[in-house]
Amino acid sequence: MKSVLWRRGRIKDYRDTLLLRESAVSKHYASIRRRKCSNNLATPFKTRGVAQPATRMRVVMTMPPPCVAVRNIARRLGDDISEEKPILDSRLPDGSRVAAVIRPCSLQGVTLTIRKFNAKHFQIEDLIRIGTITQDVADVLKQAVIGRQNILISGGTGTGKTTLLNILANFIPEHERILVIEDTAEIQITTPNLVRFEARREQDGLPAVTIRDLLKASLRHRPDRILLGEIRGAEAFDLLQLLNTGHSGTISTVHANSAQQALSRFTSCVLQSNVELPYRAIKSNIADSLNLLIHVERRSGRRFLSELLRIEGYNPDDDHYAFEPIFMREQQL
Ligand SMILES: Nc1ncnc2c1ncn2[C@@H]1O[C@H](COP(=O)(O)OP(=O)(O)OP(=O)(O)O)[C@@H](O)[C@H]1O
Ligand SMILES: [Mg+2]
Repeated sequence: MKSVLWRRGRIKDYRDTLLLRESAVSKHYASIRRRKCSNNLATPFKTRGVAQPATRMRVVMTMPPPCVAVRNIARRLGDDISEEKPILDSRLPDGSRVAAVIRPCSLQGVTLTIRKFNAKHFQIEDLIRIGTITQDVADVLKQAVIGRQNILISGGTGTGKTTLLNILANFIPEHERILVIEDTAEIQITTPNLVRFEARREQDGLPAVTIRDLLKASLRHRPDRILLGEIRGAEAFDLLQLLNTGHSGTISTVHANSAQQALSRFTSCVLQSNVELPYRAIKSNIADSLNLLIHVERRSGRRFLSELLRIEGYNPDDDHYAFEPIFMREQQL
């Protein structure tokens, strides 16, 4: 039986909550949302005492003032949450993400969400076995990584983008020097030649160190490959520059609802850097730099690779990308 203990204003034993992927605790702990791979259920439980939902999770809670609890969590993480700064976005020592919003911005009281760091290491064989990916697609991807193609993985929240990036990174030959740049260290690769950079938000009077800063710095460290955890904003421009200047074998992820939408998202991220390049020139650059687009989805609780496209080019006259579909979930080509 796994448990989450919420006592005296702090969360204990969160490390034991192996079944808990994500939990959101709202005012008076009236509900806890769990997402356990396939399910996204709202499970009511008693505010004092023990509740035993249908699955193997047990929640034990008492009633400290939620604000105190969240403040204590923030303080322990070297962060701060208060009326002046009512949003917390931090990380527990094991990598789990903690997000909280308190009054006045959270109208119904404290909203706390913990995204449990998942220690499970998926391998490509696991993805094939559970039907996320076919053997043929796995072979194509392996060859693409070894052949230093530039790969962008897109998908919605929690669809398995980072997991797939991790798995693909394992195909990189051992002698290559891999440089991983992330907002939050999530990528887990074991290779002798690994360099890891992590961005820092402005904190405790220390200035922020952005993904852009780290991407620029990365070039001075002779990486054979750069893995960028996620493209979220202006760093897309620096990544594009890097790819344009001959860096290959890069893998990254982006939030998008389809493989094609991933390119629009990439383009808008490039525009956030205030670069003075026409829209179509950016798109053309993207088409020249990226080789493969992978889209992953989560439907009915199952995750699967739904599209694999090779980018063949971009025609600025009719504003269209040319793709070679290598795999489409509905129809296998
Ligand atoms: N193919 C899969 N089958 C089942 N579970 C998976 C699969 N891929 C990933 N997961 C699980 O789904 C959760 C989310 O995975 P992951 O962090 O890779 O998603 P993400 O798309 O990168 O999320 P985010 O949007 O937060 O960046 C993790 O708990 C992971 O173990
Ligand atoms: Mg991710």
